[in-house]
Amino acid sequence: MAEAEPLLEARNLVKRYGQVLALDGANFTAYPGEVVALIGDNGAGKSTLVKTLSGAIRPDSGQIFVDGKAVSLSSPLDARRHGIETVYQDLALAPDLDAAANLHLGREIYRVRALQILNKTEMRRRAVAAFKDLGVNLPDVGAPVASLSGGQRQSVAVARAVAYASKIIFMDEPTAALGVVQRERVLDNIRRVRDRGITVVLISHNMPEVLAVSDRVEVLRMGRRVARFRTADTNVEQLVGAMTGALTTEDEPGPGSPGSGSPGSDSPGPGSPGSASPGSASTDGRGAA
Ligand SMILES: Nc1ncnc2c1ncn2[C@@H]1O[C@H](COP(=O)(O)OP(=O)(O)OP(=O)(O)O)[C@@H](O)[C@H]1O
Ligand SMILES: [Mg+2]
Repeated sequence: MAEAEPLLEARNLVKRYGQVLALDGANFTAYPGEVVALIGDNGAGKSTLVKTLSGAIRPDSGQIFVDGKAVSLSSPLDARRHGIETVYQDLALAPDLDAAANLHLGREIYRVRALQILNKTEMRRRAVAAFKDLGVNLPDVGAPVASLSGGQRQSVAVARAVAYASKIIFMDEPTAALGVVQRERVLDNIRRVRDRGITVVLISHNMPEVLAVSDRVEVLRMGRRVARFRTADTNVEQLVGAMTGALTTEDEPGPGSPGSGSPGSDSPGPGSPGSASPGSASTDGRGAA
């Protein structure tokens, strides 16, 4: 594939919590139709970055571009309007409602809107279709989510995001609590979503998982992006090296430095020629997969 324009780009994001500089001029790039892993040590700023990119919090400064256009994401609803959905780590499901109702949480379909009478048949029909589409097997879409297993719940949360995301889905540690089989199921769903042309941003501490499912990896350290890799060209040692500060592929100006440039100008990204990358942390094109 030829040079792709970023779908989403963050430049120089700064977010301060009191004395803590959670984001210290962070950059982030996601390209169309890829799985990009966002990794970093505890406290590196990953969740903060995701929250700013999904409209949950406002950065103190910095810019966000969607399809090359500067946007201001003032709420999760605002982000949704740009095709951005988020699967939060706690999943934000309503345990007492069934899977179909959870799928439509906040976007209920009404039979008689004025009377708030829900069209349960239609919601159920769409839910069954959405789960089938994702290869999710639920024993009963009418069962309360509380009665589902962790992996099944995860699948409901993923299905909900997939049902509404038109461009990009953030998943903040979706597999952290899952067993081997359930984890594989979620990873399969991530691949399916990607194959439908939707970009997935996966936050994970599990390096084998990152290597198995992602096309690219971006590494955050102390509130800044310190490295980017094509997954096909990297390995656990490099990823750990980047997380711990032993390795960097970035040569980026810090926050407040002049010339924040235009979006997409600071490759490496897919399709750009590798530059200034130590070792095999090269950057030519998307993974072969
Ligand atoms: N609401 C908050 N109030 C104060 N400090 C915060 C808040 N949220 C995050 N921080 C701080 O910002 C820094 C980055 O936190 P963040 O949650 O983004 O890290 P993370 O990379 O997601 O870590 P983890 O891998 O542990 O989830 C941390 O030092 C954290 O203590
Ligand atoms: Mg986090």
